Amino acid sequence: MINFIEKLPKAELHLHIEGTFEPELMFEIAKRNNIKIPYNSIEEIKEAYKFSCLQDFLDIYYQGANVLITEKDFYDLTYSYLEKCAEQNVLHTEIMFDPQTHTQRGVKFETVINGISKACKDAEKNLNVSSLLIMSYLRHLSEEDAFKTLEQSLPFKNKITAVGLDSSEKGNPPSKFIKVFEASIKEGYIPVAHAGEEGDADYVWEAIDLLGIKRIDHGNNCLQDENLVADIIERDLALTVCPLSNTALKVVEDLKDHPLKNMLKKGLKATINSDDPAYFGGQVNQNFIEIQKALDLTKEEIYELAKNSFQYSLASDAKKEAFIKQLEIYYNNNK
Ligand code: HPA
Ligand code: ZN
Repeated sequence: MINFIEKLPKAELHLHIEGTFEPELMFEIAKRNNIKIPYNSIEEIKEAYKFSCLQDFLDIYYQGANVLITEKDFYDLTYSYLEKCAEQNVLHTEIMFDPQTHTQRGVKFETVINGISKACKDAEKNLNVSSLLIMSYLRHLSEEDAFKTLEQSLPFKNKITAVGLDSSEKGNPPSKFIKVFEASIKEGYIPVAHAGEEGDADYVWEAIDLLGIKRIDHGNNCLQDENLVADIIERDLALTVCPLSNTALKVVEDLKDHPLKNMLKKGLKATINSDDPAYFGGQVNQNFIEIQKALDLTKEEIYELAKNSFQYSLASDAKKEAFIKQLEIYYNNNK
């Protein structure tokens, strides 16, 4: 089964580039930028990565991102993640980035986007990993601040496919961002949002009804409301589920209690993702491996999850078709 998962062609649809920052690279970049970080060793870092909730994690995640200054820093961070994609048979990835985490510290929007997008272009050529970008607004900041970010992004519109919404969910409902999502859609960006990770089902309703999102990041708490589940199925929206993130942030106590199987049984289209792999203890394949074991998933269910990852990606129809064909050949030869 582990071998089946490792070789399985797949896409990753929920990934924060700032969350891929492995301690080794963080030390290296901190050193070359002459920035002090509050850890002296990898062991100290691992000790700090024990979280009790989303906010607990976010505080440490934003601190880690502080060492990213130059275009090369963003390039190295992104390329290093894309190398991991190639190793894991991730054919396609949709990378979220948080411009405000960097522009707030005086780093220019163009530094961030140019570093990330150059790495994506090089990885497409050298590693055969396809990717696209999701610019995520930080929901703990104001809608006005998100508007500034939208404005800054416009000269780079051709490098960005979608807009997202992340950071502290509780107290920052989707309704806070109706206008900026409306404006983003007008500019041609596809809307997605984190909803129902710590927030209740009504946050998922808002994200669908008020922001018009095309995919739900996490979405676990949609299960609180049967009508919502029916609506999500009716609208054919996928959930980007992140098992190891859920246990690391205590959204789910134990992987054995994870609602993934229940989601699939209800007819929801779920995908498996790593969210912030450097912080939550595993890349996407590790997420597949651990959730398979915890819920005793069959090869057919694993195949279904991988198929969803291509089907519900934001790639072109032609690309999706080619990816799914590759997956089907693999599955038929290995089931
Ligand atoms: N939730 C909200 N914001 C985030 C996350 C998450 O899981 N990861 C990075 N930013
Ligand atoms: Zn996330």
